[in-house]
Amino acid sequence: MPPKTPDRKSPKIEIQSASVSSAKPPLIDPGSLLSSNDLTIDELRSILELADRLENEDPTQRDKRLFKRRVSLLFYESSTRTRTSFELAAKALGADTSLVSAQSSSIEKGESLKDTGITLRSLGAECIILRSPYSGAPYLLAETTGLPVLNAGDGMHEHPSQALLDLRTILRHLNAGSKVTEKTLADVTITICGDIFHSRVARSNALLLPRLGARVILCGPLPLLPETAAQLAPGIVIERDFDRALAQSDIVMMLRIQAERLAGLALDLEEYKGRYQANTARIAAQAPRALIMHPGPIIRGLEVTSEVADGPQSAIAQQVRNGVAIRMALIMRALASNGLHDVRPGKNGRR
Ligand code: MLT
Repeated sequence: MPPKTPDRKSPKIEIQSASVSSAKPPLIDPGSLLSSNDLTIDELRSILELADRLENEDPTQRDKRLFKRRVSLLFYESSTRTRTSFELAAKALGADTSLVSAQSSSIEKGESLKDTGITLRSLGAECIILRSPYSGAPYLLAETTGLPVLNAGDGMHEHPSQALLDLRTILRHLNAGSKVTEKTLADVTITICGDIFHSRVARSNALLLPRLGARVILCGPLPLLPETAAQLAPGIVIERDFDRALAQSDIVMMLRIQAERLAGLALDLEEYKGRYQANTARIAAQAPRALIMHPGPIIRGLEVTSEVADGPQSAIAQQVRNGVAIRMALIMRALASNGLHDVRPGKNGRR
């Protein structure tokens, strides 16, 4: 089981020179993002607004914001979208990035996460972006290094930056702006369908979206969706019939069948496709206006057909694009929290 989110009060993101005033440093740097539950609604709004500002900023000014600051990407699992967009986001702000992946580092020789983190800190890393196959690894890294850590996916636990970019995609689709409140998604039904059990994306979204008022339907067969999933947050319901779920949905998030985590589960993939695949006929019949999302990677022809993935209702490319804006905001927030940097609009550079 992943550890409980440490009982820490997330500081208000003033997106200003955050103060680290107390003599005793907090266990986890307040610029960290380890779970989507870490964020208050005010913080969410602040991140979304900062993402908008940074996305619209002149790139030649934007890249002065974190000029030469050091951001390390520590990836123990493969990734295309998340790794590239975090890297592009850091570079767009002018930061120096270094990538450590399990295959080409001392991790392969058995170095622990703790020692790797301490090494990166000694090399000047000011923020670590971590992807790990182990649920809870970002908490350990944040505690042992004292650095802001951004969770880029930990095992079956969470993927909070994905939930934020998904939220940005939904808000833009609804023309809802970024000034989110507890009611912003009050009339919106979102179905998350597929391998919920193994999905950190599903968990981060299921924790986040109901807090903005959304009704979240989880959909999938029993081996991939235990009944207990409904307890993730208030406002979550389980519907095993995909057609019934679709008919109620404004937004549909499809999930990959995680073949690498299926060992021991009895799952007939042909039967799965028949019941849960997002294909043209099903979407046209049940949800002709719904937005279709997928965090990627897509297994075309399994959970979603190419026609739907590339079709007019698909937001998959927008999700990827929104990843860069959200991750710029998260990196700014992470580096602002150590008090060295002022990220108010128009304020650039070190103080
Ligand atoms: C993840 O890393 O969790 C992905 O974005 C979703 C997946 O692997 O299917």
